Amino acid sequence: MAHDVQAVEWTGQGLRLIDQTVLPHRLEHLDVRDVDTLVAAIQNLTVRGAPALGVAGAFGVAIAIRQAEREDWDDATRDAAIERIRDARPTAVNLAAGVDRVLPHVPKGLDAVVAEAQALLDEDVRGNRAIGRHGADWILARTPDRPLRILTHCNAGALATAGWGTALGVVRELHARARIEVVYADETRPLLQGSRLTAWELEQSGIPYLIQADGAAPATILRGLVDAAVVGADRIAANGDTANKVGTVSVALACAEAGIPFVVAAPWSTVDLNTASGGDIPIEERAPEEILSWNGTRAAPDGARAFNPAFDVTPAKLVSALVTETGVLEVSSGATPQHGASR
Ligand code: MRU
Repeated sequence: MAHDVQAVEWTGQGLRLIDQTVLPHRLEHLDVRDVDTLVAAIQNLTVRGAPALGVAGAFGVAIAIRQAEREDWDDATRDAAIERIRDARPTAVNLAAGVDRVLPHVPKGLDAVVAEAQALLDEDVRGNRAIGRHGADWILARTPDRPLRILTHCNAGALATAGWGTALGVVRELHARARIEVVYADETRPLLQGSRLTAWELEQSGIPYLIQADGAAPATILRGLVDAAVVGADRIAANGDTANKVGTVSVALACAEAGIPFVVAAPWSTVDLNTASGGDIPIEERAPEEILSWNGTRAAPDGARAFNPAFDVTPAKLVSALVTETGVLEVSSGATPQHGASR
């Protein structure tokens, strides 16, 4: 079952990551023992998804400590290596937050760092279960009394977290309550997290789904084929503006037009009260080749250039609900993270 999927795991020697670049064709793992390999794995999306990046970042500090011992680094070299992990991708606040959470334990040594990183991992799985329950309760109270058609964008499942998933955690909970008719999984251009990863997880869990092109999503919603959209988040600003995979804002706009719920499911660790609003969220821009090629073959004229932002920002007024492990904030009604309950 996909909810047993462990995207990030500490083996005692290093990190074991599911290689998300080769799914759904192959289920392979990458063993990470050094900082260069970890930074590359984060940047090429071997490990991805905000909460999974947070856990990888926290264990990454342990990797840096082990490498420092092995290679006789001084503290400055070790700390610079930790900084490289922290900065490997800019948008998901969880990565830096995961590193920062274990940093106070560095003077106590490797075991203390590993214990704190493991605590983060365990909290994330527990939190996702709670997100699933809160999200399902909230959606069921606001949708027709029949199995639902839920749309999701990108992958916010077990692969993107320490386990179970955020948006897909809500879907799993609805499925367990026999309240899923179908999940529309947006394919998620250009790296196909939806068609490769979300579809793989739904397939493993026996949850009915349809993959659609990202460009189809707004019309599917406006045609009345969707009861609610549920997505994850990479960073939620204090005012409720939410960064998630590029294409998310089109889904939110269509939900607002259709009058159906647009739900963001994310742990509190994705809320960044130091970021006032969406305009302050750093948006990762990835290599043009991801857009200019398809399946390894050039798909644009020679000389074509590309704009490749990996994320977009959905304004708070379009977010019907922010579901965290502590409950639900109705953001579009004015309950921002800044003013709402915190941990
Ligand atoms: O570029 P990715 O695959 O790391 O982007 C992931 C997303 O946008 C997810 O929706 C988000 O991180 C939430 S994962 C629970």
